[in-house]
Amino acid sequence: MTSSLRHVDVGGQTPYRIHIGPHLLTEGAALAAQVRGRHVLLVSDSNVAPLYAAGVREALHAARSELQIATFVLPAGEESKTLAHFGGAIEALAGLGATRDACVFALGGGVVGDLAGFAAACWMRGIDCVQLPTTLLSMVDSSVGGKTAVDIPQGKNLVGAFHSPRAVFADTGALRTLPIRELRAGLAEVIKYGAIRDPLFFEWLQAEREALLAGDAAALAQAIARSCEHKAEIVERDPLEKGERALLNLGHTFGHAIEAEQGYGGAGNDNLNHGEAVAVGMVLAARLSADLGMATTEDAERLATLLAGYGLPTAIPAGLAPDALLARMRLDKKNLAGRLRLVLWRGVGHAEIVPDVDEAAVLGVLVG
Ligand code: GLY
Repeated sequence: MTSSLRHVDVGGQTPYRIHIGPHLLTEGAALAAQVRGRHVLLVSDSNVAPLYAAGVREALHAARSELQIATFVLPAGEESKTLAHFGGAIEALAGLGATRDACVFALGGGVVGDLAGFAAACWMRGIDCVQLPTTLLSMVDSSVGGKTAVDIPQGKNLVGAFHSPRAVFADTGALRTLPIRELRAGLAEVIKYGAIRDPLFFEWLQAEREALLAGDAAALAQAIARSCEHKAEIVERDPLEKGERALLNLGHTFGHAIEAEQGYGGAGNDNLNHGEAVAVGMVLAARLSADLGMATTEDAERLATLLAGYGLPTAIPAGLAPDALLARMRLDKKNLAGRLRLVLWRGVGHAEIVPDVDEAAVLGVLVG
């Protein structure tokens, strides 16, 4: 393995290692060492597969020529995260004759990781899955922690399972081909870690903005490693989101409502992507916290200023009705007994789950 490699270990009942560094997608020996049997299903999408799938397959074969590798490629985009494509991945495993020691490799962003992870969770009641995230957002969030799912028309991620990966390989070289808008979206989730539990990291993100936005490899590796350390600590203690894991959802209830209300749309449209919607959501959560007397207005504005400095949106897109957004928020999976349960904020580094938030106050920030 390369010397610039970092790693973060996730403990708990099913421990695994997150490898971070350049050239990991072609480290055949390290990738092949994760495969307990002979069958590999490489799941990717139509954007990522042409860039990296052949390299991963060749690296695996060079390390272990006996591996039987099939590839399943989804059309790129959130609209592929369906039960129908999940069925396609399952059929690919059946076609391969995959046995219990087979391994799914998820090569791509969050859609690929979630769907491939869910297929691995279900095939023969659970086989290994190695996450190979190629977007910043999936490197710092969705590839770690074992949440897998697909969407149904009634909502995002409503059908899924907790299924920890066997390993995660975050190849920082893949970020070089990532569009700047996707890089910024990932940085929104990175900023989230500073906001919820790490004031020093928040300050570091203020200082390193130019380097990170310019794609500086060392700064990005540091941001990924720190984010993964935070996520690892949380999911190790609370793998099934019975408590503190919900803090990772700062801004997400607002963000999901915005995403759902605008429709997930096709690639290249003007809708906010997930990271952008979370950025707006964090600003709204911070302002709501200030309105409720939990945080200061200055802190809320500090967060909005940092996000805006990264070129992220901080206001609800025009045309989305506040009452429609509130109706969407009522459907959030975190809610219990019909009460709005939100992650709110006590200033930089301190988030808190509030079980019964006053709807009029929420509507107040949605109206603006
Ligand atoms: N993305 C939030 C979590 O993994 O819990």
